[in-house]
Amino acid sequence: MKSSAARQSIPARPAIKTSDLEALLSSAKSVCVLTGAGISQESGVPTFRGAGGLWKQYRPEELATPEAFARDPMTVWEWYAWRREIIGRAQPNAAHFALAELEQRFAGDRNGDPAGEQAEPFTLLTQNVDGLHERAGSRNVIRLHGDIWRLRCTQCGAERQDNSVPLDPFPPRCDCSSLMRPGVVWFGEPLPDAAWRRATMAAGSAELFLIVGTSALVEPAASLPLLGKQNGARLVEINLDPTPLSGLAELSIRGKAAEVLGPLQEKIRRGKIGKIPTL
Ligand code: OAD
Repeated sequence: MKSSAARQSIPARPAIKTSDLEALLSSAKSVCVLTGAGISQESGVPTFRGAGGLWKQYRPEELATPEAFARDPMTVWEWYAWRREIIGRAQPNAAHFALAELEQRFAGDRNGDPAGEQAEPFTLLTQNVDGLHERAGSRNVIRLHGDIWRLRCTQCGAERQDNSVPLDPFPPRCDCSSLMRPGVVWFGEPLPDAAWRRATMAAGSAELFLIVGTSALVEPAASLPLLGKQNGARLVEINLDPTPLSGLAELSIRGKAAEVLGPLQEKIRRGKIGKIPTL
């Protein structure tokens, strides 16, 4: 005997059509990608906005600021400690891996150009501080908002890598005994110069600009696809929800990043999608 619930077949979610994306990827010689928190959502990392985006009653704009840290470092550190705990457990998902595969396809063994003097065939710009792109194998990654695993001294500026969860002592202290802060960019702070220079160069020279899982509400990162478009890039957006960039995109795919990009990974690996590298 089977319960009626067991007999009912659950309707499969219709597969997302990616043939237009595949064609655009195949005709481009260079690709720039901008990712946001949505790409890590399927790894279990909460986004900032939308469902599950709030930590306690706080919005990120209230906590991720130098003023909030100066006023109440413990609360700000508790938020980052909570995020470090979640990120520490997370694994890259199929979208992260597909982008790493795409880089391999476009750039081959060519390494990134840290000086930012040359246009790259593939550049990944991320607002995420979780490091999941690098863990999936992406190499030419420009972290616009820093790295949650770096700590920086509020007094002497010394930096160190610290992957420990939980942090001990908490909040962390520098060797000079001053308070450390997370090595991330906060609202009201400028993006690191070198990262921004390389990001604008990549955005301004790419033929295809892929925007994945960002609400495109935080500047200056949100302007990078516009810079790309002004310089002739074709924009493709992958997001669960519409964003201010959706109307400007030539192709706007409504779906989860891993569900859209994941199935492309094998095709990219087999050379069915993407630029054929030249020697
Ligand atoms: P947001 O949280 O603002 O936006 C995440 C976007 O991803 C939303 O548009 C969601 O609809 C979409 N989304 C959610 N799940 C998805 C999935 N599985 N696949 C595809 N899309 C999905 O995150 P960001 O745009 O990255 O900065 O936010 C930008 C910056 O604001 C962050 O870097 C952070 C934050 O405050 C600082 O802390 C300085």
